[in-house]
Amino acid sequence: MQVDGHHYRSIWLAEDGRNVEIIDQTRLPHEFRVVTLSSLAEAKYAISEMQVRGAPLIGATAAYGLCLGLRQEQSPEQLESICGQLIGCRPTAVNLQWAVERMRRLLEGHPPGEWLTLAYQEAAAICSEDCVANEAIGVHGLGLIQEAWQRKNQQGRVEILTHCNAGWLATVDWGTALAPIYKAHQAGIPVHVWVDETRPRNQGAHLTAWELQAAGIDHHLVVDNGGGHLMQQQMVDLCIVGTDRTAANGDVCNKIGTYLKALAAAANDIPFYVALPGSTIDWSINDGIREIPIEQRHQDEVLLVQGKNRAGQLEQVAIAPAGTPAWNPAFDVTPARLVTGLITERGVSPASKAGLLELYPEQSRD
Ligand code: MRU
Repeated sequence: MQVDGHHYRSIWLAEDGRNVEIIDQTRLPHEFRVVTLSSLAEAKYAISEMQVRGAPLIGATAAYGLCLGLRQEQSPEQLESICGQLIGCRPTAVNLQWAVERMRRLLEGHPPGEWLTLAYQEAAAICSEDCVANEAIGVHGLGLIQEAWQRKNQQGRVEILTHCNAGWLATVDWGTALAPIYKAHQAGIPVHVWVDETRPRNQGAHLTAWELQAAGIDHHLVVDNGGGHLMQQQMVDLCIVGTDRTAANGDVCNKIGTYLKALAAAANDIPFYVALPGSTIDWSINDGIREIPIEQRHQDEVLLVQGKNRAGQLEQVAIAPAGTPAWNPAFDVTPARLVTGLITERGVSPASKAGLLELYPEQSRD
């Protein structure tokens, strides 16, 4: 996507062909800072501290993190240790595990002397495939926005609510939930996006609003508690969100607060779509509510809010009495019954095992 006239992906290989560059998402929207990752430790820090975040981008960063770790030493012990360290960085987004296991499987079929070259090639392939998949999600999701536009007799604009940031910053490019919106905008369909601020880390306010503004797409930021009211007032035509892990039964795990939006959408007969690349499906899990691990993050994310002060500097301020304990689960699970459809790179499917297997028949065990 474009930033000040330059095309950026959210992660890329530095000119030296070995280091990796990312956009530090903890500084956005106030500062656009590119950070160079030159070691496994820096890649792990970037993932854990959320300089990079969003399920597909975490996977891509882990793939390059593995390359950086292998630069130190190429041995089975080192590979094992790197994989364990990367997978431990964030537990919910399955793309992290998916990317690391994909790299490991490839490397284990070759002698260690070949690993470095192969690893960089595979990390680049993971990034390119993510861009292609997300653009395809955009095309399939565009069909749903076109239908909504027809239902409104092409009057006004299509009103879409989204939660968190599932835009190009959360992936390598295009995004998942935002890809259909970018495609609709390019196709000349008037769209307007309700952007949930997404406490506690405010990915909606910091990142989605920034992306949409850069793309010239109409939007308003709303407090997380506003969605129910907007839907009740018929101010939302459809919801589109991303997911960090989708169970084989169609349950979707996404940023905390997604479940409440799905409940409000169901109560108001508003379609609720979830956009995802196949790499986000965890075929080993059949009950998302019981089985998907929910990341528990530091209480300071709830107790402190970051923003730009009047002097133009980034600052964190406390919003609760000193000593207040806080509880900070980063994700929740929306049961499949509340999901109207899953928008994947292969098409739109019902949120069910049968629906997903129609699109991904190679996962069928029979
Ligand atoms: O904690 P984050 O910012 O990594 O959470 C991101 C989300 O919940 C996104 O909605 C999800 O990764 C889908 S993004 C393509």
